[in-house]
Amino acid sequence: MLLPKDRGHHHWAVSEITPQPVYQARRRWIAAAAGAWLVPRTVRAADPPAPMGAPLPGTRSAVPGALTMDKSTSLADATSYNNFYEFGLDKSDPAEYARALKTRPWSVAVEGAVRRPGTFGIDELLKLGAMEDRVYRMRCVEGWSMVIPWVGFSLSQLIRKVEPTGNAKYVQFVTLADRTQMPGLRSSVLEWPYVEGLRLDEAMHPLTLLAFGMYGQVLPNQNGAPVRVVVPWKYGFKSGKSIVKIRFVEQQPTTSWSLAAPHEYGFYSNVNPTVDHPRWSQASERRIGEGGLFAKKRPTLMFNGYEAQVGQLYAGMDLKRWF
Ligand code: MTE
Repeated sequence: MLLPKDRGHHHWAVSEITPQPVYQARRRWIAAAAGAWLVPRTVRAADPPAPMGAPLPGTRSAVPGALTMDKSTSLADATSYNNFYEFGLDKSDPAEYARALKTRPWSVAVEGAVRRPGTFGIDELLKLGAMEDRVYRMRCVEGWSMVIPWVGFSLSQLIRKVEPTGNAKYVQFVTLADRTQMPGLRSSVLEWPYVEGLRLDEAMHPLTLLAFGMYGQVLPNQNGAPVRVVVPWKYGFKSGKSIVKIRFVEQQPTTSWSLAAPHEYGFYSNVNPTVDHPRWSQASERRIGEGGLFAKKRPTLMFNGYEAQVGQLYAGMDLKRWF
């Protein structure tokens, strides 16, 4: 189980949320990097803040399940409590170290089993679909959740344009790995670049979002600017940030977390309150912003509450085996 630590309600001990070898590698990295980080920290503190707040309006989505009545998490919480290991391991690191990430020019290469492979500049990509507002519940595997108003369009719109061939059974997402911009790459906690993947039918599901913004604004860097994937019925780590490549493949692709700890993080990683993480229960969650330490936890819902929309994708599958 996760236990709150003494550094405020939104910090967990690393040892409580990560596998032991990963935790040990991380301690070594922190020790090695401590000296080097002291100086850059003060220098970076003087960097100008990221150009947040550029408007990116969407229109109300008509996709079933794309809106929720749940109260949205505050922008302040959603942009200061992040997992983006390329920028460090603490929840506050991405907000601090992703500020200087250059998100333009940016392009996303689409390759593999498609009839129309190619490289899309970010401005080209933005125009491939009509921007929609989608308010998704997001559940992190660590046991907390948020409600985020995203702006983007269904990934299926891009997929249709590139015309997958019959050999395209899975989609792999590769995210940026740039040592000059990402101090977290010094850590061997994961293999870089961060890679994630979906089965093609999951990637084609209308709820799977290619997100360019949130809260009516372009994505803040710490949330995965300039473009990320959002899969609301899966644990948050399936939603890769700052993606640079989308690869259509025949075999189930490697993913960073299942490589780091195969017994803890499966390829599917559907939110499932009946399948516990080996080291903690997944039956309930703490909604960030809801009353701190003493707030009652919420029960976690099957497929994060999107069962009506996505349950069919897994008909007949043993979800304990395919976790
Ligand atoms: N994408 C990359 N490239 N690197 C990461 O470390 N962390 C994942 C996911 N995408 C991660 C990533 C995890 S564990 C979570 S919970 C979500 O991003 C967090 O997204 P948020 O900060 O926008 O809430």
